[in-house]
Amino acid sequence: MRRARGILLIVGVLIFLVSVMFAPSVFSFRTASGQVATSPYAGSEACFKCHPGEFNDWKVSGHPYILIPAEQAKNMPLPLPAGYSWDDISYVVGGYKWKARYLDKKGFFITTAAGKPGKNQYNLMTGAWADYEAGKVKKYDCGQCHTTGYSPEGSQGGLPGIVGTWVFPGVGCESCHGPGQAHIAAGGDKKLIATDRSAWFCGNCHIRGKATTIPAVGGFIQHHEQFNEHLASPHRKLACVDCHDPHKKAEFSIRTTCASCHSAAQAAFAGSTMQRVGVRCVDCHMPMATKSAVSLGPYKGDVKTHLFLIKTDPEAKMFTPDGAFAKHYVTLDFACLQCHQDKTVKWAAQYAKGIHSLGKRKK
Ligand code: HEC
Ligand code: HEC
Ligand code: HEC
Ligand code: HEC
Ligand code: HEC
Ligand code: HEC
Ligand code: HEC
Ligand code: HEC
Repeated sequence: MRRARGILLIVGVLIFLVSVMFAPSVFSFRTASGQVATSPYAGSEACFKCHPGEFNDWKVSGHPYILIPAEQAKNMPLPLPAGYSWDDISYVVGGYKWKARYLDKKGFFITTAAGKPGKNQYNLMTGAWADYEAGKVKKYDCGQCHTTGYSPEGSQGGLPGIVGTWVFPGVGCESCHGPGQAHIAAGGDKKLIATDRSAWFCGNCHIRGKATTIPAVGGFIQHHEQFNEHLASPHRKLACVDCHDPHKKAEFSIRTTCASCHSAAQAAFAGSTMQRVGVRCVDCHMPMATKSAVSLGPYKGDVKTHLFLIKTDPEAKMFTPDGAFAKHYVTLDFACLQCHQDKTVKWAAQYAKGIHSLGKRKK
């Protein structure tokens, strides 16, 4: 027994030493100039051993995949713009839920296909190619929200098209919890790892422009501004993590349902016509008034809004007259006409008040 344990110990120490030699990224990282430096970052893989639950959830969420090195991306179900091969690509930007954009070997966006400007963005919901900055020379200056351990200085890998450097591509554990090396070295000391539960924290990335406005274009709110929407909503005092488990993909992340905080609305809704045909709270209160890649109808973008409050006045407008900003509520065109496509806002307004209990038998 003793001897077996001794051998196990020696084998363990050997594996440890070998892994230190061959996996320098765990204990150090290469700087832009190629030098090896010690890093306070451990990398998300290093968290798996002690936090397998969070790791496995995160691994199938969108956060890790917003910036994917080509060596990894070429094994994923993603096509390339016409005329390019994987040998021409350094990174893919996105490609998890809405759209993919591609960086060339020098770190610039690919803005052409088959030698012509455009058709360079792949839209996942339609399978179509769209134009993004067609034909332009465009640097990748998006790293602050797409990477872990970002610094605006220098160029990752020395690529001239990339603004700034990072320790790891994608939003890793340490993008939200801060560097984890010391926490691990201390065997999991709570005081050596950061956690910020506030909406403001998520708002570092889920924001566009000033937090106090809701920028819009082409009849839709623009994407990545959940924080702007949230601050304008009746939920502004809640944290994002009151509703979301931050490690899980959106669809599986809801830890507190609407019903658990709005029992009266839930009770009114139960047994109504809408409830019986399968319409859910989020269908009306979080319509896709926001757009990342495509619009699926005149009142249907591809991202759910976080405004929640529905304005039942048929004269109410969702956007400012110049279309540049959204107001703080959802109008009936977005809430109802996404499904009732042959109806008008006036029709919807007749039923909107008291809609929760529509079609219920009077007691
Ligand atoms: C998008 C930001 C974000 C990312 C990415 C993230 N976390 Fe978290 N994590 C949080 C927040 C915020 C909390 C605390 C709030 C909560 O869960 O309610 C938290 C809580 C935790 C907790 C405490 C859980 C508990 O029940 O008390 C652990 C452990 C943890 N995270 C580990 C990880 C690991 C490991 C990864 C990577 C695999 C990771 N996190 C990635 C934001 C993040
Ligand atoms: C302020 C932070 C921030 C900046 C800066 C930013 N993004 Fe994002 N991006 C996000 C967030 C948050 C999302 C996901 C939420 C959403 O789109 O509503 C996202 C989503 C995306 C997606 C879709 C991913 C998918 O799964 O389909 C792409 C592509 C993308 N961004 C490209 C870019 C490019 C290109 C730039 C720079 C020109 C950029 N982003 C700058 C925060 C940012
Ligand atoms: C050697 C095991 C181990 C590894 C590896 C490890 N942790 Fe932990 N972690 C722990 C333990 C143990 C706790 C619980 C500490 C406590 O409750 O006192 C913990 C707690 C946490 C918490 C909750 C802190 C709080 O305030 O409640 C977070 C967040 C966290 N770890 C993140 C990470 C991240 C991110 C990584 C990877 C960079 C990581 N951990 C790697 C052991 C580990
Ligand atoms: C460092 C920037 C950053 C921070 C901080 C951040 N996010 Fe994200 N988030 C992103 C980006 C970028 C995407 C797009 C990922 C993709 O589509 O590949 C995203 C996507 C998401 C998604 C949709 C993708 C999915 O997995 O279904 C949810 C939900 C989300 N974030 C919630 C949160 C919450 C909650 C917080 C705060 C606890 C948070 N995020 C903090 C950058 C960030
Ligand atoms: C963690 C608790 C919580 C959850 C979960 C929650 N809400 Fe709320 N909601 C609130 C609070 C608090 C307010 C503001 C106080 C109030 O007006 O009731 C609010 C306000 C609202 C309002 C405006 C009410 C009014 O009279 O102006 C609507 C609409 C709403 N929520 C819809 C939803 C929907 C739909 C969901 C599910 C996607 C949801 N809420 C999930 C707590 C919650
Ligand atoms: C068919 C669309 C629709 C569905 C489904 C729906 N709502 Fe509503 N909800 C509305 C409209 C429209 C209003 C505004 C009514 C008014 O101003 O008189 C509203 C108002 C509210 C309010 C504020 C006023 C109140 O009655 O308390 C809350 C909270 C709310 N809904 C929560 C929910 C929850 C929770 C669910 C799911 C159980 C849900 N809604 C399902 C359309 C819907
Ligand atoms: C009142 C509850 C609630 C709050 C607060 C909340 N969310 Fe959500 N969020 C939801 C629900 C419900 C969904 C829809 C989940 C699904 O896809 O079924 C969602 C979806 C999302 C999505 C995916 C959108 C899409 O259409 O793919 C992102 C990203 C997101 N939330 C980020 C955030 C961020 C960041 C915050 C804080 C600024 C936040 N959420 C606050 C309830 C909430
Ligand atoms: C997710 C899709 C969806 C949304 C969003 C939706 N509805 Fe419906 N609605 C349906 C379906 C399905 C039916 C049942 C089939 C039918 O009558 O068209 C229905 C039925 C109705 C009926 C007939 C009910 C009866 O008892 O005869 C009215 C009125 C109605 N909806 C009004 C609204 C209003 C107002 C809104 C917005 C506040 C709305 N709906 C939002 C899908 C939706």
